[in-house]
Order: sequence, then C-alpha cells, then structure tokens
Amino acid sequence: MKKQIKQINEKPYNNLPLLPPAIEDIESILILRQVNKSSIRLAELKGLAQTLPNPNILLNAVILKEARVSSEIENVITTHDQLYQALSTNNLNVNSATKEVLRYREAILMGYNLIQKKGFLNTNSIIDIQEVLEENNAGLRKLPGTSLKNALTGEVIYTPPDDKDKILDLMKNLEHYINDQDDLSPLIKLAVQHYQFESIHPFYDGNGRTGRIINVLYLILNGMLNSPILYLSNYIIKHKTDYYRLLQEVREKNNWEEWIIFMLKAVEETAEETIKQIEEINYFFNAMKAEIREKAPKLYNKELLELLFEQPYCKVEFLVDRLQISRVTAAKYLKGLELTGLLKSKKIWKETIYINIGLFEILKQ
Ligand SMILES: Nc1ncnc2c1ncn2[C@@H]1O[C@H](COP(=O)(O)OP(=O)(O)O)[C@@H](O)[C@H]1O
Ligand SMILES: [Mg+2]
Repeated sequence: MKKQIKQINEKPYNNLPLLPPAIEDIESILILRQVNKSSIRLAELKGLAQTLPNPNILLNAVILKEARVSSEIENVITTHDQLYQALSTNNLNVNSATKEVLRYREAILMGYNLIQKKGFLNTNSIIDIQEVLEENNAGLRKLPGTSLKNALTGEVIYTPPDDKDKILDLMKNLEHYINDQDDLSPLIKLAVQHYQFESIHPFYDGNGRTGRIINVLYLILNGMLNSPILYLSNYIIKHKTDYYRLLQEVREKNNWEEWIIFMLKAVEETAEETIKQIEEINYFFNAMKAEIREKAPKLYNKELLELLFEQPYCKVEFLVDRLQISRVTAAKYLKGLELTGLLKSKKIWKETIYINIGLFEILKQ
C-alpha cells in the first residue's frame, strides 16, 4: 500500500524540470527564422510608440482591451462599454466580471510600476501582481489538489507540482531565467518562461492571467518595449486549442519548437495589429482635430482633445481636474462638442457621460 502511494507521488508529471531546456531544443533554424520576423515587427512597434505625442492615449486603450480579452480566455466576460462606464462612474453599480477585469488592469499597472522601480521581476512581485488580480492574499500554493482538466471531458491532463518547497525552488529558478542576461534571444526565452510559469502553476487561481501579465513585463525588462503595449491574449483566444495543446506537448513530447514558434508568431501578428491600431488612432485624432477646428473653432483646445482620447467616456469632472476650468465652462465644452456630432452623451445614474464615439469604435475592435 505504502509503495503504491509513493509511486503516485513520483509520477513524472510532478517532476517539472528546472530551466533552461537543452539549447538544441529551442534554437532550431525554423525558430531562428521566426525570431527574425517577430523581432522586426516588435522593433517597429517600439519605435512607433516612441513617436506618439501622447502615449497615454494608446496605453490606456490597449491595457483595458488586454484586461478584457485575457479575462475572456478564462471565461470572465464583460463588454468594452461596461468597462469604460465603470471607469467613468467610479465603479458604481458594476457587475462582478467587470470588477474582475478592472482588477486585471490594476495588476498590469502595478506590475509595470514595480519593474520600473526595481529593474527586475522576482517571485514576490509576481505574488503581488496576482494578489491585486485575485483580490486575496493566499500567495503561492501550499496545499495539494490543483490539477488542470480538459474543459470538455473533465479529464485531468496535468497535475502541477504541489510540494510548497518544490514550487518555491521552481519559482526561484524561473526568476533567474527571467532576469539573468545570456546569449539567448529574449523572444525565445519569452516562450520558455511562459511555458514554465504555467506549468509551475504556482497559485490556486489566476495563473493564466498572471502569466500573461508577466509576458509583457518580460518584454519591457529586456528592452524590447518601453511600455506595456503588446499583448498576446487576442492571438491566444483565436488559437486557444493550439495554445493548450502546445503547452501540453512541450511536457509530453518535448515539442519546444512548435510552442516557441506559436509564441513568436503571436508576437509578430500582435505587433502588426497594434501598429495598425496606433495608426488608426493617430489618423482619427487628426481628423477629429480638423473637424472641431472647422465646425466649432472656439471649442478647440489641444489638452481637451487629448483628454477625450485618454478618456473616451468623459465627464465634466475630468475636464475640471485636467484643464483647471470651472464646471460651467467644462459643461459648455462637452455640450458644444456633442452638437458637432463628435461626442454622444449618455445618462448613467445621475451622471452625464460624453462618449467619443469614433474612438470607441476603433477601441472596440
Ligand atoms: N496543459 C497545460 N499545461 C500548462 N499550463 C496550462 C495547461 N493548460 C492550461 N494551462 C494554463 O493555465 C491557465 C489557467 O489557469 P488558472 O489558474 O485557472 O488561470 P486563470 O484564473 O487566470 O484562469 C491557462 O490560461 C493556461 O495558461
Ligand atoms: Mg481560473
């Protein structure tokens, strides 16, 4: 009897190897070719983002979108409208999924601040990020019983390590892999560390989302981005079955190559999409500027226009705070812009919100 239990504990699935994987498994010709393509797109995105007159516009928009999409992978569903509404009305009357998505946003911002301050990402910071996301301080798993199941059949496909010292060792090892400089391409390492984090599965919940936040922080730590604007979640949703299958195939078939190429393509495609989105926002920003100047020149104010892009759901208070103007003047601006057709007002409880409808359409995509 005793022997049997021992055998179960020694099943290979609990023996997740430490990093790094063998170099020949992760540096094939196919991988290196894709590294080239992905690096070019990513560098293009980084450069373009640096030329933006107001980077916060893009940052706010993409972080909120990522929060929604990454949560959607875990079946936490809300809409863009509910999110912006919640942000502009101080979370009054907000459903639980929307709150959870807004916590994801907080967790990204918090992680970004942490790495800017410290210059590295350690286990404690990862725990802090997950704590904001999940709004509880359970920390790393201490109790056994966590397993990953096939969503349809309920069959257990992977049981992550459940000894708390083992989890801590694996996290320390991952921490070194993330922060230590070596000759490997950071984009290859991005894929490796994401597989490893998800396989350690260090938390009771929130591992998928925390792992996807780590990805963007990793790119910043490695100088591949200056701010958190590239997210793979949209790509993952589109290729969700492959995402799950390939995580499993690294474990079962040592199929690093396909996994790494999957992640590299995700970077390439997502960088392209983000570039397009930046271009669309820029184009619309200039178009709206021209239209205000033409239709209501007295209402044109550069800071106001920027605010309407940072807060596509805008209200009088936001103008009062930012532009240091009176409520009366602020209301006059917003009502005036509504008359031009560029904004559309909506009453939410006792508040009037002015929606930048053109921008909202772009952000929704
Ligand atoms: N076979 C697998 N091997 C390793 N990680 C996996 C596997 N299947 C799923 N995952 C990861 O686990 C995540 C889900 O874990 P969970 O803790 O529930 O995260 P969240 O609460 O954010 O949903 C998935 O998004 C994926 O990243
Ligand atoms: Mg979950």
